Amino acid sequence: MRAVFITGGTTGIGMELAKLYLSQGWKVGVCGRDRAKFDESFQAHRDNITFYPADVANREDLQRAIADFSKPIGLDLLIANAGIGYKYKTKVPDFDYSYKMIHVNLLGVMYAFEAALNVMIPRSQGQLVAISSIAGYNGLPGVSAYSASKAAVSKYCESLHLDMRQFNICVTTIHPGFVDTPLTQSNHHPMPFIIDAPKAARLIGRAIAKKKMVYAFPFFFSTVVRFLGILPRPWYRLLMSIKTINYSKE
Ligand SMILES: NC(=O)c1ccc[n+]([C@@H]2O[C@H](COP(=O)([O-])OP(=O)(O)OC[C@H]3O[C@@H](n4cnc5c(N)ncnc54)[C@H](OP(=O)(O)O)[C@@H]3O)[C@@H](O)[C@H]2O)c1
Repeated sequence: MRAVFITGGTTGIGMELAKLYLSQGWKVGVCGRDRAKFDESFQAHRDNITFYPADVANREDLQRAIADFSKPIGLDLLIANAGIGYKYKTKVPDFDYSYKMIHVNLLGVMYAFEAALNVMIPRSQGQLVAISSIAGYNGLPGVSAYSASKAAVSKYCESLHLDMRQFNICVTTIHPGFVDTPLTQSNHHPMPFIIDAPKAARLIGRAIAKKKMVYAFPFFFSTVVRFLGILPRPWYRLLMSIKTINYSKE
């Protein structure tokens, strides 16, 4: 039996990934801060899944959870999925929340990878996956810490992909566009080309199985956003001054 640990696997994309791997016969571990979300999401799927109450911003708690889960049969796949976003886009950042976001979205991925590599390197096998975002391709207005955290996660994974090959460990970065989850349901801005979470999980699962280095979706929207990243910066600045594209509040 193969084993996958998913951080933030109690709602949204993480929950759908957990259900996907359960349906394929994997042993699944998930963590989150609120056990009630796990109880609600997995009422009908209690076999082969274990919940660990752990905040990904707490290195010791997360390490303990991943080590406990891996003890019996090892760890084939780690998906660092837990993340938080902004409800509103604001020009002046809420700095307290921005610091928290860096802790959860960036350090949370590093802590999870560290714990997983403690298991995977001695066995010379495994796969690490981070759920980044297409928001990491550009410094988007109004979500500075979110864009920064996801850009950092993507570059971190790109480096590790090269470094981990010698241990037969694959590192995959996923860049989703908008996905309909509790995180985006409280957004107050337009979300073009949004897709549902089960479809996102199927696409992500397929990219993981193919051991892709990077996977972005949906194709058209992610291509447009990537294109913005190679535009000369004066053109990008001009585009982002258009009110229908840049809807940050003062
Ligand atoms: N939805 C989108 O459009 C979209 C697009 C691009 C990228 N992403 C990324 O995809 C990932 C999943 O997002 P989602 O939309 O599925 O969000 P979601 O529905 O809000 O789910 C987030 C999950 O992470 C957990 N979590 C949040 N903070 C945590 C913490 N500090 N420690 C442990 N667990 C924590 C939550 O459980 P608890 O609250 O109980 O801890 C929950 O299980 C995030 O990294 C997000 O940035 C999402």
